[in-house]
Amino acid sequence: MHIVIIGGTGHIGTYLAPRLVETGHSVTVVARGQREPYQPHPAWNTIRRVRLDRPAAEKDGTFGKSIRALRPDVVMDMTCFEADSARQLVEALRGEIQLLAHCGTVWVQGYGAQVPTTEELPRRPLTEYGRKKNEIEAYLLDQTRRLGFPATVLHPGHIVGPGWAPVSPTACHDPQVFTRLAAGDQVALPNLGLETLHHVHAYDVAQAFALALEHWNQALGESFFVVSEAALTLRGFAEIAATWFGKTANLAFLPLEAWKATLPEEFVESAVAHLEHSTQCSCQKATRLLGYRPRYSSLEAVHEAVNWLIEEGVIRI
Ligand SMILES: NC(=O)c1ccc[n+]([C@@H]2O[C@H](COP(=O)([O-])OP(=O)(O)OC[C@H]3O[C@@H](n4cnc5c(N)ncnc54)[C@H](OP(=O)(O)O)[C@@H]3O)[C@@H](O)[C@H]2O)c1
Repeated sequence: MHIVIIGGTGHIGTYLAPRLVETGHSVTVVARGQREPYQPHPAWNTIRRVRLDRPAAEKDGTFGKSIRALRPDVVMDMTCFEADSARQLVEALRGEIQLLAHCGTVWVQGYGAQVPTTEELPRRPLTEYGRKKNEIEAYLLDQTRRLGFPATVLHPGHIVGPGWAPVSPTACHDPQVFTRLAAGDQVALPNLGLETLHHVHAYDVAQAFALALEHWNQALGESFFVVSEAALTLRGFAEIAATWFGKTANLAFLPLEAWKATLPEEFVESAVAHLEHSTQCSCQKATRLLGYRPRYSSLEAVHEAVNWLIEEGVIRI
């Protein structure tokens, strides 16, 4: 099949595009052409790259048509953040494709009431980002269920992999937390350190997209959380990460406002957002319907990213 990945050179596309080529598909990646994938792979020699700036093309109404002109069988969309963007794509692709797989986010859930959170539980999105992704999901699944448009929605957790900084035990992308743990320096955590994070390796997100295509009849009209087998508490995460450096974590626990003052300014907003969500999702539905089995635990995924950051000299040990 010919698969078009919109935004296919980022975290997910780095693993997804070569994987689809390896299973015999032809792949076109649509992006602005401002970056390269995080990892080289020989498959990129056969992947067609099309340059398009989505918001600009949507504004003049040409985006959907440009994607249709590529004559895809399947579209995997990593860069849709507005319901109007989804509408433009669906209207252009109606009757033309076998599957549209949209990338959402676990933040559609907001905070969980019963955890691990499953897909059918009521949603309490906390951010505009989460609300808009919910709106997109509602629109796409309605299109499938009422009108037969072939859509599915995959909601990744905090995406991790070698090439960028993972969400750390201080709930933000500050890699220096690992430097501190490696040195045995004190790391402050909020409250009792029991808020949660739910990572997923980009390899496993790519796995889920590939499985949604393989099991399209199970995927259509459904949404799936795509996470590792288990979330981490901040405290447990910090304690185990310290052992990677042969250390015992030296942790302090502070009330939220005092803790925020210990963070570098640029990470405060993101850290608080991760705490407020305290994501803890179940991937059982993806396992049951798609055969999704995450290869990486949260800790294995983060450890791999941390080793990359050490090699790059970002984390100093
Ligand atoms: N990061 C996370 O932890 C996380 C967690 C949950 C869900 N998500 C979801 O994951 C999706 C993003 O996937 P990702 O993390 O693999 O992507 P990413 O690493 O952020 O990369 C973005 C991709 O989109 C392209 N792109 C960016 N702006 C564009 C534009 N204006 N027009 C066309 N292409 C554009 C980029 O290439 P160019 O720069 O060359 O254009 C690149 O290929 C989003 O839907 C997000 O909501 C992410």
